[in-house]
Amino acid sequence: MIRPIVAYGQPILQQAAAPVSPEQEGLPELIQDMFDTMAAAGGIGLAAPQVNVGLRLFITGKPSHTDPFFDKETRYPGKVFINPEIRATGGLFSTQLEGCLSLPHMQASVLRPTHIRVRYQDHLMETHEESFSGYMARVIQHEFDHLEGVLITDRIHKHRQKSLRPHLRAIANGKVEADYALMPH
Ligand code: NI
Repeated sequence: MIRPIVAYGQPILQQAAAPVSPEQEGLPELIQDMFDTMAAAGGIGLAAPQVNVGLRLFITGKPSHTDPFFDKETRYPGKVFINPEIRATGGLFSTQLEGCLSLPHMQASVLRPTHIRVRYQDHLMETHEESFSGYMARVIQHEFDHLEGVLITDRIHKHRQKSLRPHLRAIANGKVEADYALMPH
């Protein structure tokens, strides 16, 4: 089921999310809904707070079964990260333009490390520790930020933040349309 995506301005996007417990009810439904929602919106990552659920969970991947990130084992078109922890960062730093489904029609250049090591639980709550680089490392760090209540607008220079303010205000006031359902409008 496709859920609306929480738009900039809602407090849940700026709050730290709560850990997921093994007894968490409705987890399979939430994960499936998040994949449906991400595919419908054409995203490459989605964090639970973006569908108005304050839990430490995000997904990554492209909505295509031919995508290299398609997980044959889980049959999800991507990866599920529950209670993720970034254990280490390394490599170089790179700056790239990032977008965010909660910030329609906006991009920002964000500096991030190119390598990370992440400990996380999968959809069955089994723990993994894995290294990522490049594109995946960037997507994971962007989604991880959502669990800390951090947005790309928090990671850019002050003068750029100032220039984005009118657009951010328009999103918060429901004056920016997206080709997917936004919450609260
Ligand atoms: Ni985002």
